[in-house]
Amino acid sequence: MRLALLTIGLAVTACRGTLSEEPPIHLNPNMDFQDRYELQEENDFFKDRRAMRPQVVGTYAHGTVAADDVTHEHLRQGKVDGKFTDALPTGLSLSADFLNRGQARYQIFCTPCHGGAALGDGMVAQRGGLVVPNLLDQKPRSYTLGQIVNQMVVGSKQMPSYAAQVPPNDRWAIAAYVRALQFAGVAPEEQIPAEVKASLGGGAK
Ligand code: HEC
Repeated sequence: MRLALLTIGLAVTACRGTLSEEPPIHLNPNMDFQDRYELQEENDFFKDRRAMRPQVVGTYAHGTVAADDVTHEHLRQGKVDGKFTDALPTGLSLSADFLNRGQARYQIFCTPCHGGAALGDGMVAQRGGLVVPNLLDQKPRSYTLGQIVNQMVVGSKQMPSYAAQVPPNDRWAIAAYVRALQFAGVAPEEQIPAEVKASLGGGAK
């Protein structure tokens, strides 16, 4: 009797030896089974009939490019061989367009605190009671571009990181623009081109 029960039990529960195409019994299917396209399948909705859509030009998935890679030392951390650098990362070069881009981004993200001329007199400093350093001071003037980039990435004390808002290439453009502001603010007289000096009426003091 016991043996008979065991045999029946095994017969009912054991593997039947054939594969089933049917999904297992699923008491609460929720949204587990939905229409979808398989890899490489056709889709007549699109002209090229590809269900797998090509990537939209000028976009990238988060975390898929070198620019987004924290291990990209030069671009991401402003360093070469562990030291902050003034050199622009490969692919970036100093031009009027680059500085204009930096100016536009600076004015969006940095002006509220640092002010348009980087004097530390932005509206947040004026109205929000935040003490913001003057970027024309000796210390920030001594920073390499890499250090300015790093400041944007990690922030410090009351300044949050701007890494989420400002993509890597733009950080370098902003850093170059900050350098331009520093130069414009405190350039030594001998470095002012003669024609600019003349246009200022004979000599900047
Ligand atoms: C919310 C206000 C705020 C914004 C916006 C802001 N900063 Fe700052 N920034 C500060 C404060 C406050 C400090 C001083 C932090 C400290 O004491 O460590 C600072 C420090 C710095 C320094 C270092 C200055 C020094 O003397 O060491 C640099 C460089 C700098 N900011 C650049 C930028 C750039 C570039 C942007 C735009 C991407 C920016 N900041 C946006 C508030 C701000």
